[in-house]
Amino acid sequence: MKTYFHKLLITGGHGQMAKAIKAHPLALPFDLTLPSHQAMDITNDSSLQQAIDHVKPDCIINTAAYTAVDKAESERELALAVNQIGAQKLALACHKNNIPLIQLSTDYVFSGEKKTPYEEDDVIHPINVYGESKYLGEEAIRTHCADHLILRVSGVFSEFGQNFLKTILRLARERDELNIVSDQITSPTYAGDIAGVLFTMLQQNKFIPGTYHYCSQDAISWYEFAGMIVNTAKKRTSIKTKNIHPINANEYKTAAKRPPYSVLDCRKIKTIFDITQPAVLDGIVASLRECGN
Ligand SMILES: NC(=O)c1ccc[n+]([C@@H]2O[C@H](COP(=O)([O-])OP(=O)(O)OC[C@H]3O[C@@H](n4cnc5c(N)ncnc54)[C@H](OP(=O)(O)O)[C@@H]3O)[C@@H](O)[C@H]2O)c1
Repeated sequence: MKTYFHKLLITGGHGQMAKAIKAHPLALPFDLTLPSHQAMDITNDSSLQQAIDHVKPDCIINTAAYTAVDKAESERELALAVNQIGAQKLALACHKNNIPLIQLSTDYVFSGEKKTPYEEDDVIHPINVYGESKYLGEEAIRTHCADHLILRVSGVFSEFGQNFLKTILRLARERDELNIVSDQITSPTYAGDIAGVLFTMLQQNKFIPGTYHYCSQDAISWYEFAGMIVNTAKKRTSIKTKNIHPINANEYKTAAKRPPYSVLDCRKIKTIFDITQPAVLDGIVASLRECGN
């Protein structure tokens, strides 16, 4: 099937999301180019323009980002250089070359103080440097490239790269007991499901600019998420962990603060693109299957 958005250029081509995009069955009819950080550096104007001239994409999906949430607290300049300035350069290049831009963003633009799911136009109040840098990137894109979609997602996990599921899987093979934070609520989202959303939006040929939320249907604590991962993995592979203990966030010190309640309201993407929220368990099963467990 030939689609209007046929040629896609995916920045950050060796990252978790880019790999999930490449592996998705809906990718088949599209022509994808996924340059590495080195091959297409979003903080470098000439690197950007060279990649655009070479690929001549119908659309760019920006998965490139500085994603080290804790390190960002001590590497603020670097986080801003990629997530704000890089996003701005990309937005300007897209505008100049008349290319629609899809940007991935995060639930961490919100404080997490709300008790109900965050809507797209809720008050922005990042509580860590990473969240701030991603929000500034969103703003740069809104300012410089009218033809944009911003997709905020949360707690991305998959068989690719480094993520919570893979960390828990490793720890569960090494340790009898695990202590996991139970007073922070999130909606973990499988990268494969996010990739499916991107293709579904592109296939519909209605590029309606704006900001959209997408996450799984399960609002759970990291403790509950870890329990689901371990219980699912146990059925398929050898696991050492016997018990998982709930702890409070203040017992698990991290450089960056995390939002206590970080759940996204996904009604807008449902209304406009008829995209429904997946179950987190299906994503866990898919990740473990693809990891070979
Ligand atoms: N992971 C999550 O839980 C999560 C949650 C919400 C939103 N998001 C967003 O989802 C998107 C994808 O995240 P991910 O999980 O795929 O992250 P990831 O695995 O860390 O991938 C990001 C990629 O960007 C590359 N990169 C860094 N600086 C770059 C630059 N200047 N130019 C080009 N590429 C650069 C990195 O390459 P190097 O490693 O070689 O530097 C890496 O391959 C990001 O926008 C992120 O903010 C992620």
